[in-house]
Amino acid sequence: MNDYITIALTKGRLADKTMQLLNKAGYYCEELKDKGSRKLIFTNEEQKLRFFLAKGPDVPTYVEYGAADIGVVGSDIIMEENRRVYEVLDLGFGKCRMCVCGPDEARELLQHHEMIRVTSKYPNIARDFFYNRKHQTVDIIKLNGSVELGPIVSLGDVIVDIVETGSTLKENGLAVLEEVCPVSARMIVNQVSMQMKTRRIREIIGNVRDCLE
Ligand code: PRP
Repeated sequence: MNDYITIALTKGRLADKTMQLLNKAGYYCEELKDKGSRKLIFTNEEQKLRFFLAKGPDVPTYVEYGAADIGVVGSDIIMEENRRVYEVLDLGFGKCRMCVCGPDEARELLQHHEMIRVTSKYPNIARDFFYNRKHQTVDIIKLNGSVELGPIVSLGDVIVDIVETGSTLKENGLAVLEEVCPVSARMIVNQVSMQMKTRRIREIIGNVRDCLE
């Protein structure tokens, strides 16, 4: 398998956008186009490429351990997971913002250093933001989805989550209270692969970079 380059894709919309970009750069995978397939790994024998789909938070794990040479995942997940990988390219899609959100009344709670409760899928990002940037002590409660529910059912005061169009917030009577950082899809590379498969990996990075707007 050593002469193959293995690429971990984030399941869902990001995978489709990644494949569009890779196609533009001259890398293909016919097998991946079959949406009904339950296969987990897809190969292009001619180009010696292997692809697999993983849940976002698992992509940096596969790359850190060398199960994938390359991964494409959101910078939100890279920040949250904090894995030892090289981040080599900002791919410019999957753009959104990491924000502190809540009902308008919660705005006041962010002005003082009082203890508040934060619900989030991103406990590490939330902790870093409140402790190191705002110097505010917070109680963080990890959720796995539909985080907007937190303030609505009084599980917490505010949330830290990604905002893309803003429609989830709007439909639930919440607003952006502060921005933490912008988010976009990134290409990451395993540190050993970068040394051992330098030529092929650099070539892929170069060809993809040339296709970025
Ligand atoms: C994400 C995020 C917000 C929503 C933001 O959730 O957690 O809930 O998208 O998008 P918007 O600003 O365009 O409304 P996702 O769809 O990943 O599902 P989840 O609730 O399971 O996390």
